Amino acid sequence: MKKVLVLLAGLAAGPAWAQSHGAMLPFYGGQIGLSGDLHVEFVVRDGMIRAWVRDHADKPVAAAGKATVLVGATKHEVSFAEDGAGLKAELPVKAADKVTAILSLTAQGRPLSARFAQAELVQPSLTGAALAGKAVFERVCATCHGTALRGTDQGPPLIHAWYAPGGGHDDSQVLKVLREGTKGHMWKLGDMPKPEGLKPGEDKPALAYVRAMQAANGIDQSAPAAGKGGHSGH
Ligand code: HEC
Repeated sequence: MKKVLVLLAGLAAGPAWAQSHGAMLPFYGGQIGLSGDLHVEFVVRDGMIRAWVRDHADKPVAAAGKATVLVGATKHEVSFAEDGAGLKAELPVKAADKVTAILSLTAQGRPLSARFAQAELVQPSLTGAALAGKAVFERVCATCHGTALRGTDQGPPLIHAWYAPGGGHDDSQVLKVLREGTKGHMWKLGDMPKPEGLKPGEDKPALAYVRAMQAANGIDQSAPAAGKGGHSGH
């Protein structure tokens, strides 16, 4: 599976640009699209799409508008409603779905358009530790990271180049985070507390499941610049 981001402006996702731009990092684990000097962060959640418009200094910009969303082969036309610092529109969609969305917004009195796409989540056939880990993940981790591992408002996507097995988020780092939690340092999603209800011996299976899902969905050591995404300070 290839990376899922498609943008009108042709901006590449991931660490290459993250390193060279202090701004334009996703706050909420989403994809970033550029339109003039504004950028749009976009996510698909279960039951809705969300978007945030920010300026070059990452300051939220008020926006309004609509989206044409293709979920599999079904087309939806939705209007965005204001939602905190961003926009949301409810529709029958899952984070695991194949989605193409064309956003037609107005911000700062100008039209702003951005196109995003994500592939359908690949569910690999699991064995051994990864299979045991799926149940652990769904019980302990999915409330924050989502059953599709594509994130929620409480936790980032783990199917993300920043969390590839090489680089700064190798197995020993992840196991440490599962023992201790971690201060929020990459997104604006807050801290990860020490996972509640994770029993002794469940950390490695949970990690094996995350790795299996990453591998099946194109996140592996060969992902370009994986894990070196413009952050430090573990
Ligand atoms: C209460 C919500 C919550 C729960 C439950 C949770 N996480 Fe997290 N997790 C987060 C947040 C928030 C971050 C991002 C912290 C940051 O900004 O770097 C994170 C980060 C991570 C990271 C990246 C760590 C790093 O080195 O930066 C991994 C891997 C991870 N979580 C795996 C898991 C697994 C596996 C479980 C279940 C055993 C789990 N999480 C449970 C919220 C949660």
